Amino acid sequence: MSKVIGQAISRKDGRAKVTGTATYAAEHQIPGLVHGYLVTASIASGRIQQIDTSAAKQAPGAIAVFTHQNVPQISKPQTGMLYEQRLPLADDRVYYGGQIIALVVAQTFEQARDAAHLIQVKYENTTALVDAQQAIFEDVKSFMGEALQLEQVAVGDFAAALASATTKIEATYTTPTELHAPMEPHAIIAHWQGSDSLTIYEPSQALALMQYTYAQLFGIPQEQVRVISPYIGGAFGSKAFPWPHAILCAVAARELQCPLKLVLSRRQMTANTGHRSETVQTISLGADAGGKLIAIDHVAKSCTSLVTAFPEPCVLITPAMYAAPNLRVKQQLATMNVGSPTFMRAPGENPGMWALESAMDELAWALNIDPVELRLKNETQQHQSKKLPFSAKSFADCLTVGSAQFGWQNRPQPRSLTRGGKLVGWGMAAATFPGYRGQASAQVRLLANGTAQVLTSGNDMGTGAYTIIAATAADMLGLPVEQVHVQLGDSLLPNGGMAGGSMMTASLAPSVMAACQEVLKIANVTTASEAFAALRQSGLPAFEATATTAPGAETKQWAFQSWGAHFCEVSVDEEIGRLQVTRWVSVMNIGQVMNAKTAASQVRGGVIMGIGQALMEECNYDPHIGYPVVYDLATYHFPVHADIPQIGVTFVGEPDFNFNPAGARGVGEIGITGVAAAIANATYHATGKRERTLPITPDKLIGS
Ligand code: MOS
Repeated sequence: MSKVIGQAISRKDGRAKVTGTATYAAEHQIPGLVHGYLVTASIASGRIQQIDTSAAKQAPGAIAVFTHQNVPQISKPQTGMLYEQRLPLADDRVYYGGQIIALVVAQTFEQARDAAHLIQVKYENTTALVDAQQAIFEDVKSFMGEALQLEQVAVGDFAAALASATTKIEATYTTPTELHAPMEPHAIIAHWQGSDSLTIYEPSQALALMQYTYAQLFGIPQEQVRVISPYIGGAFGSKAFPWPHAILCAVAARELQCPLKLVLSRRQMTANTGHRSETVQTISLGADAGGKLIAIDHVAKSCTSLVTAFPEPCVLITPAMYAAPNLRVKQQLATMNVGSPTFMRAPGENPGMWALESAMDELAWALNIDPVELRLKNETQQHQSKKLPFSAKSFADCLTVGSAQFGWQNRPQPRSLTRGGKLVGWGMAAATFPGYRGQASAQVRLLANGTAQVLTSGNDMGTGAYTIIAATAADMLGLPVEQVHVQLGDSLLPNGGMAGGSMMTASLAPSVMAACQEVLKIANVTTASEAFAALRQSGLPAFEATATTAPGAETKQWAFQSWGAHFCEVSVDEEIGRLQVTRWVSVMNIGQVMNAKTAASQVRGGVIMGIGQALMEECNYDPHIGYPVVYDLATYHFPVHADIPQIGVTFVGEPDFNFNPAGARGVGEIGITGVAAAIANATYHATGKRERTLPITPDKLIGS
């Protein structure tokens, strides 16, 4: 009886966002606020011999300077989550270029920044390692409890199985260091009430976990920390847990006993708020004459910092994609003098699918089989490392519907299509992302004024959560969506779980549904209108109920995964090396589509970010001093409107009720997966040259 779910509903927070009334972390007005500015290391490896803060302390407006010599004690959390395992200013060591070495506090931002530039540092400089080719890689066994090593061999040994294939390809694909580059910079206001009660205004993808982590850092009860994050200007994985700058801001605010605001510059963000590691992946595929895969071998390497071990888990996706009796995956990690890498939109799946879907295209050409057909032939109905069947999988429909919409036909030979003097090529690739779900709670209130409220600490980082939650409650209560008000992003509210791993909708929609059922039961009615009448009669102000829901035994029976296919056209002007993406069709299978408009926007956002990854984005380090040479949104290139064609998005498949009562699997990350491969595959078709190194910049395309 869905009336609102699945419709194209405009964002409830849209007007607030476009009129500037949505309040982001740094915009909260707190009386008596003072300002911080970070000082960062100008070497990538070594130690601080001397740090002279005397001039900074005398500067106009200066209040305090914190360095490793005077930073107050902070406790390392035992079970909370930190992005970087080293606490800020822990000692005199410098592990990466741009690492925080001091915090200056002053009356105004300008005064703090000015004073920060007066700090004199003498370093003992040791040789920095920022070149992955010089790094030492070691095997990594697992990532968040999932195995990163797998060897499944049908008979005999893997090498023999691969050798027995009639057609084989082996290739190495690389990606550079990539930055999250959200529109809203990382920022925090820390406001202590005394020394044991803390309010944090900070963009947070995981409010309750962040609240818990801050409580552990400062040795105070969780209830005495309040995290407020009603709006987030993009996060992509970089705003879930406290970074060192935020911990430092909070400890300094406690010491000074005044509210302290710290906003990072774009340059400071490049080293201190995470990135996606560069990757090197080697894939071997072997197939029989009919195009059935016999063997898949996938070895991935990524790099991490000396202060956090984070592998970019590229190989997790491989056992989910295509059936092969012989399957081997292996992940390796090296430490370097770089900032700490972390989760970035489809961590692992994104670079993993770049490599795998490029390799599948190479195999299709080698076999002389259409790449859509090759994927249809090799689809697997079982997750080969989880050994579980997929629930509600419609990957084949994504491929066939996408083909039909795009007008995909047997591609002519590479370098044979032209238009207006430019080479034209078509490419396709698959998309995928696991279905994750966590525990979540929500409160629903029916008010005498005839409206409903949904309250949860879950958050909306631009995904559409406000709107989806309202739609879910509207259908459950039989109300127009305009009469449902949603409050998010405050840790005082019931724990709404985390907006990460594309799981906010799958986690929260069930608890909103359960709380709606519960509140109607408490009111002893079947619709909200009856409840409103009962409130008016009785004079009671509200009926309210809170529900908590969580995944259960279904995760032992099924593998949950979303699927998709991208089809694109590119044109290449070889004289100037200009590549334009001229057409795009994406077809996705995500279970129940909760809101046709915001879901399609999530896919489009992923495709746009994928186009940036394919063609522009790279962060390089100065090989001599180890410092990131990219320092703002002008030097870190990504697409503008002129780079993006119309992006057609269609959804196929059925609700996945094995997964949760809403049937929804989430759509935040899948859109970016496979995009870079689709573009490289189209580029090969246009030019006849296989691009295996991202980004595909003009210098690589200037032609023969
Ligand atoms: Mo996402 S990278 O789990 O925010």
